[in-house]
Amino acid sequence: MDAHALNKTAKALVAGDKGLLAMDESTPTANKRFVATGIAQTEEMRRAYRDMIVNAPGLGDFLNGAILVDETIRQTTRAGIPFAKALEKVGIIPGIKVDAGAKAMAAHPGEKITEGLDGLRDRLAEYVKLGARFAKWRAVITIGEGIPSHGCLEANALILAQYAALCQEAGIVPIVEPEVLMDGDHTMERCAEVTERTQHILFDQLVRQRVLLEGVILKPNMVVPGLKCPRQNTNEEIADATINCLLRTVPAAVPGVAFLSGGQTGELASARLSAMNARFKGRMPWGLAFSFARAIQEPAMQIWHGEDANVQAAQKALVHRARCNVAARRGEYTPEMEKQ
Ligand code: 13P
Repeated sequence: MDAHALNKTAKALVAGDKGLLAMDESTPTANKRFVATGIAQTEEMRRAYRDMIVNAPGLGDFLNGAILVDETIRQTTRAGIPFAKALEKVGIIPGIKVDAGAKAMAAHPGEKITEGLDGLRDRLAEYVKLGARFAKWRAVITIGEGIPSHGCLEANALILAQYAALCQEAGIVPIVEPEVLMDGDHTMERCAEVTERTQHILFDQLVRQRVLLEGVILKPNMVVPGLKCPRQNTNEEIADATINCLLRTVPAAVPGVAFLSGGQTGELASARLSAMNARFKGRMPWGLAFSFARAIQEPAMQIWHGEDANVQAAQKALVHRARCNVAARRGEYTPEMEKQ
């Protein structure tokens, strides 16, 4: 393991004010979003959509990295360039999602366990050849009556740590993503309690599995109330709850934290990230960035609608959201930016 190289890549992923774009939807998820938007669910359309993204003019000014999925990293853009190369060309580090999805966990009703460790060492070696320099693995934690259980938190943390160790062995920076879902009517305080417990158990396992903390990025949820909770907190309350949680759980050796959006609107995700960076400026030991999928892509996908004639307008919408999130990293996002 080359600790220096891993640390260098991890730092590069959260460097400056830029962030990450998750464009790693599995085929079923990509198809689900295409159905909702009225786009044909074919491999060619998925390729065309991702071609629109990586060729968006100026995207490299706002992103340090982009996460691809197995199908895309094996495809070429319409110009015949492999996707990973096309990203590198504009200064965006290519990454790859390597988990095989969250499945129902045996003996744990309502809870999930993420699969994909089998054969991972060989797959990582292949992804390195295809140009990936970092990876992502998502664990899913559900809040409900009597859940999450300790068994679910521990099993997912151990698997995330084993994945991370394998990545580092291959020279790939692992993004560890323990997502506490927004589904439900729980309060922000309950989300804070579950998120803190999840991350404590995760970092405990990362240390036990000898993962180099200087060579990982944490991709957490923001601490927010459930979508059906009658009391929806202010962005400032969410910012304070989220950072106070991270300050308790994430060692200073970790170079960066890059949030998932989890179903928040693009505007809310930007506003909340901005509130965190503004209120805690100079008090956080790690870079506080974004690794959004929906909160960056959603307007662009609606506009694109599967038609070549809409590519330019869709690219503009995509770059706009990326720009808003760069402003949020500086703590300078304002809703007025949406009118520009
Ligand atoms: P969202 O930002 O849409 O939650 O997706 C982030 C992600 O990469 C989930 O694994």
